[in-house]
Amino acid sequence: MDLTDKIVKLKKDKKAVILAHNYQRPEIQEIADYIGDSIELSRKAAEEKDAEIIVFSAVDFMAESAAILNPKKKVLLPCLGARCPMAQMLTVDAIKQAKKLHPNAPVVLYVNTLASAKAQCDVCCTSANAVEVIKSLDAETVIFGPDRNLAEYVSEKTGKTLIPIPEWGFCPTHLLFQPEDVKVLQMQHPGATVMVHPECSSEMRKVANFIGSTSKMCRYAKESNAKTFIVGTEEGIMHRLRKENPEKEFILAYEGAVCPNMKLTTLDRLYVALKEEKNVIKVPEPIAAKARASLERMFEVKA
Ligand code: 13P
Ligand code: SF4
Repeated sequence: MDLTDKIVKLKKDKKAVILAHNYQRPEIQEIADYIGDSIELSRKAAEEKDAEIIVFSAVDFMAESAAILNPKKKVLLPCLGARCPMAQMLTVDAIKQAKKLHPNAPVVLYVNTLASAKAQCDVCCTSANAVEVIKSLDAETVIFGPDRNLAEYVSEKTGKTLIPIPEWGFCPTHLLFQPEDVKVLQMQHPGATVMVHPECSSEMRKVANFIGSTSKMCRYAKESNAKTFIVGTEEGIMHRLRKENPEKEFILAYEGAVCPNMKLTTLDRLYVALKEEKNVIKVPEPIAAKARASLERMFEVKA
């Protein structure tokens, strides 16, 4: 039996389900029961009834959200080192300080935050629903973190003032994209459609035909009549885009756009984690309860 077969057998024996983010390695996506963006995976984890174990193939904050939303399940993160650097950028102290400075402004946090931060906010959002979440609030000024680019994008879309916390929060992978590279690719592929993630810089947003979360990009690519796409997000998505649209061409806007943390999940690590039921993600209940409320408020917003 090869490793994939062994994982499939273990999954059945242990009643486990594998959820994988769109940025995961192709072999992880192939073995997953469900592939999606951060909100889809959170929803799936929250709704999971039959499985006893959820193997969350992604990074720390996504597995934490699964553990918060479905505390009765055993949530495993195949590699504990898979930590999103952006989520580390926002401290609880920084949130408390911002609340003191702007006592009337609600706090909206991107799901790319740790549970302790989520516990301090009014509502969470993802890149798929950030605009709708901000629109749903009865406030013109909102404290928002940790992604400054997403804050700027949402502010442009809603006309509201977003106070970024920290002032400089960013995704190191998405900042690698540069509009100059897109221009060269457009010369080589005239008429190509440019899709970018809202974590990219404002300069990248300006050259985009479509801006959206990873799953929204997948949907857009399927529904669009375009034949060639220049893609401004992490390279793992290329596997899904090409698999779902074999007749279309997808070009990564910058070849080095790899999130090292997303790539830490390998078949070997997933196999060992599931076999030994190790790397269980647990969030202490007082924090989990508050973070759950912020996540559930997000689910209530129609997007
Ligand atoms: P999505 O919600 O678009 O999948 O984004 C998650 C993420 O980490 C982007 O870098
Ligand atoms: Fe975090 Fe960026 Fe990696 Fe997404 S791509 S997990 S935001 S570092």
